[in-house]
Amino acid sequence: MPDTQITDFNDRMLSLGLARVSEAAALASAKLIGHGDEKAADQAAVDAMRTQLNKLEIAGVVVIGEGERDEAPMLFIGEEVGMGTGPAVDIALDPLEGTTLTAKDMPNALAVIAMGPRGSMLHAPDVYMEKLAIGPGYAEGVVTLDMAPAERVRKLAAAKGGDPADITVCILERPRHEDLIAEVRSTGAAIRLITDGDVAGVMHCAEAQRTGIDMYMGSGGAPEGVLAAAALKCMGGQMFGQLLFRNDDERGRAARAGIEDLNRVYTRDDMVRADVIFAATGVTDGSLLPGIRREVGWLTAETLLMRSKTGSVRRMCYRTPAP
Ligand code: FBP
Repeated sequence: MPDTQITDFNDRMLSLGLARVSEAAALASAKLIGHGDEKAADQAAVDAMRTQLNKLEIAGVVVIGEGERDEAPMLFIGEEVGMGTGPAVDIALDPLEGTTLTAKDMPNALAVIAMGPRGSMLHAPDVYMEKLAIGPGYAEGVVTLDMAPAERVRKLAAAKGGDPADITVCILERPRHEDLIAEVRSTGAAIRLITDGDVAGVMHCAEAQRTGIDMYMGSGGAPEGVLAAAALKCMGGQMFGQLLFRNDDERGRAARAGIEDLNRVYTRDDMVRADVIFAATGVTDGSLLPGIRREVGWLTAETLLMRSKTGSVRRMCYRTPAP
């Protein structure tokens, strides 16, 4: 849909409400951190996110959610959320990004949600996406998906004014990434392997000085790709994504989502075509956000709340009596 058909919405007023939504999801999963039960942790986050979302004065539609209608009872793609009284908005969400990280109390699990005007976000099917991301401050196209991984490292190192040894790349540790990892290591660059959570992985590039990550590479969930693009639109930085299909069922999912060109390379702004607001609350401790802090009788959550229109970034700390 061309930009001209996308209507602005009052993102300033809604942003605090959005922070409450990700906070609620993260807080609900707190009692399940480290308890080895991924499903229960996810369910708690989904229930809480949906309840809080339905209190907002929006006519929302979930475009990135828990799955297609027949596989997800709540927050499925196409579900209408909110009170139905306010602006028409698209919602991309992942109530618990890093279910395994949460179950094992490992770093960087987040509750995440993004909101933009209706028609603003790519309806990415639940397939894999090849991803490439860097932070702000580099010339447009300094790295691209067309380049071999080693070339990306060399180009980024030169743009940074250093050598490949000055670059750290974040990659999901998966057997499918063995060749990618070997090629990146052959340049002399460092790799931070993560076991899950590539939304956080991409976001790390936008705060390279804090996180030590310069570039994100590799395949992961396409829905997570759109969420990461929404975050980078607020934080600055470049991102490219290309959908990957393993079979006809996955190609069918793309067709149902309205995607015609299966080989298209999406830029950040192709995935998120208008200004958005984005909230992420830390569930487990990470380099971007601390996780939920549990003290006797109290819970504390920290949320990153951002608006792409103004580039504003808030870090909000919320303390509440434990239920
Ligand atoms: P969940 O929170 O749904 O478990 O997803 C975690 C995640 O690591 C994503 O961040 C990533 O995009 C995807 O899974 C990678 O998929 P796979 O585990 O199949 O490689």
